[in-house]
Amino acid sequence: MESLFQEWEGETVIAHHDKPTGAWIFVAVYSTVLGPAAGGTRMKWYPDLREALADAMRLARGMAYKNALPGMPWGGGKAVIALPDDFDPGLRTDLLRRYGKLVHQLGGLFYTGPDMGTCSADMDVIAETGAPYIFACTPEAGGSGSSGPYTALGVFTGIQVACERAFGDASLRARKVLVQGTGSVGGPLIEYLRAAGAQVAFSEVDRTAIGYYRDDLRLEFVSAGEVYTADCDVFSPCALGGILNEETISGLRCRIVAGGANNQLRDPADAGRLRTRNILYAPDFVVNVGGAMAILGMETLGWDHDQAEQEVSSKVRQALRRVFALAAEKDMTTEEAAEHIADERLKTGA
Ligand code: PHE
Repeated sequence: MESLFQEWEGETVIAHHDKPTGAWIFVAVYSTVLGPAAGGTRMKWYPDLREALADAMRLARGMAYKNALPGMPWGGGKAVIALPDDFDPGLRTDLLRRYGKLVHQLGGLFYTGPDMGTCSADMDVIAETGAPYIFACTPEAGGSGSSGPYTALGVFTGIQVACERAFGDASLRARKVLVQGTGSVGGPLIEYLRAAGAQVAFSEVDRTAIGYYRDDLRLEFVSAGEVYTADCDVFSPCALGGILNEETISGLRCRIVAGGANNQLRDPADAGRLRTRNILYAPDFVVNVGGAMAILGMETLGWDHDQAEQEVSSKVRQALRRVFALAAEKDMTTEEAAEHIADERLKTGA
């Protein structure tokens, strides 16, 4: 654990042991230079505490970058609730209430919304004790609901911009796009892609979701074992982190990677590996900001739904074009270019 702290460039980490369940909660605040830290709450089981803390730290950094890049007045942080082995789901509500109390005690250092393993209904519970620092509650509780469709819109826009760059044509008509994961982002992304005339393939492990997309929508199903070697124009990871690595990159048969999952690169060298293979990578934090942007805009700036959609697509389009241009100009990877732009903002606070 010590090396994690020593290597971390962020500001603050809070570690909280929830004694009634044995869960550990980590709140990692990477930067508050541009504003209070905002980021999701991820709730899942981890093989050990180190993994959980490392995930919180990595995700917090990604949040700081994604909020900085389009010029949002927010810093970046993330919370991880590491569930114990054999977690009793009956204890979930009380755990979320105690977590809300912790967020409240932080007094505005960290604002949070949903992420993997949590949803708007969970935010309602967390807000019972955590308000006013909780975003994306259900409409019934006065919130703006799921952030997934807005994240999907940003990813969809990112795919168009990447196609424009790689093929000289932003149109998705007849482009083959493989979406990994049909959850809160992958699901709505598939709808956008179908409406744009793309040929959509999907990969998923949940049986019900497989049934829906394969049998009802008649989309091509790609098994988990084939997802990193399937032939497509665009590969869109919308589930797990760390999936772009030495093993997978050598087998990819796509021209573009652009998806919603956080922390897609396993390590920084993977950006170079993608470039060597002539695969255009749309950095995850550039294209997956839509959920956070829309929710924060609607809940703190008074945007309505249409305005949120407009802001998400125009800001993602602008940011990704800038990243591609800088990468070409300076002969860097797209990841380096995006980090460079975000780092400048985080350094200067402007
Ligand atoms: N899960 C979102 C992300 O990774 C975090 C978020 C959602 C933040 C909603 C604020 C509001 O970007």
